[in-house]
Amino acid sequence: MESLTDLLSETGLKRRSPVSVLTGAGVSAESGVPTFRGEEGLWKNFRAEELATPEAFDRDPATVWEWYDYRRRIIAAKEPNPAHRAITRLDEAFPDFLLITQNVDGLHARAGTRRIAELHGNLFRVRCTRDGEVSDNLGVPLTEIPPRCKCGSLLRPDVVWFGEGLPREEFDRAFNAAEACKLMLVVGTSAVVQPAASIPLVAKQAGALVVEVNPDPTPLTDLVDLHLRGNAGEVLPRVVDILLDFTDT
Ligand code: OAD
Repeated sequence: MESLTDLLSETGLKRRSPVSVLTGAGVSAESGVPTFRGEEGLWKNFRAEELATPEAFDRDPATVWEWYDYRRRIIAAKEPNPAHRAITRLDEAFPDFLLITQNVDGLHARAGTRRIAELHGNLFRVRCTRDGEVSDNLGVPLTEIPPRCKCGSLLRPDVVWFGEGLPREEFDRAFNAAEACKLMLVVGTSAVVQPAASIPLVAKQAGALVVEVNPDPTPLTDLVDLHLRGNAGEVLPRVVDILLDFTDT
């Protein structure tokens, strides 16, 4: 971690400096939530690319909902881990902060993080297919599959499917934060799904210090300022200790 302290000195990070964190599925791995890619990847078992599309939903909404109900049940039984909680400490300490997450599991909010841009939506919200109204009042497990809105139309998960655009407001918040931040931590993402994967590059180009936390190398590893190899639940609390100590003036 010596190199992190050196880099922070060069950057001159302050409590008032804008700080951003980008997370992917790896941040929830130590909570027991399967990641998408890799050996135990969710995609492998469930061929999610075939389920997480508007076409699959049009064809067979019940099967798509079975799969989302399964994921909602797994995640509802899990708890945030030390990595989620470390990010909450940053949210509380830095006045200009944004967490940008690709995760749909809601664990960051359950860990107490308040300022979050959920780029890919949230598994626990549903959206009416007729008027787009969003709500979060369906129980886990679902009592009706596929669930219907009070207007009678089908409900869909309020998540981004393959082939769909990102929610405009979240996209803007994320890219504005990337351009403005002085420090970006990139945690537990394989950095292969666009446009999220380009967020750290936007930050880097705008002059931010970019630090990656991941047990494995990714396409970003050679481009960032520092790669901290390890599990987020172990590495991130130490990184946050250092950041808070360093900016405690
Ligand atoms: P991936 O499953 O692609 O990548 C998970 C990353 O986490 C990998 O780089 C792992 O090395 C790393 N990892 C595993 N365990 C870790 C740990 N304990 N601590 C830190 N890192 C760890 O997940 P994402 O990058 O989030 O999109 O995938 C991006 C998007 O692909 C998802 O949001 C999803 C999917 O298509 C949508 O659903 C729209």
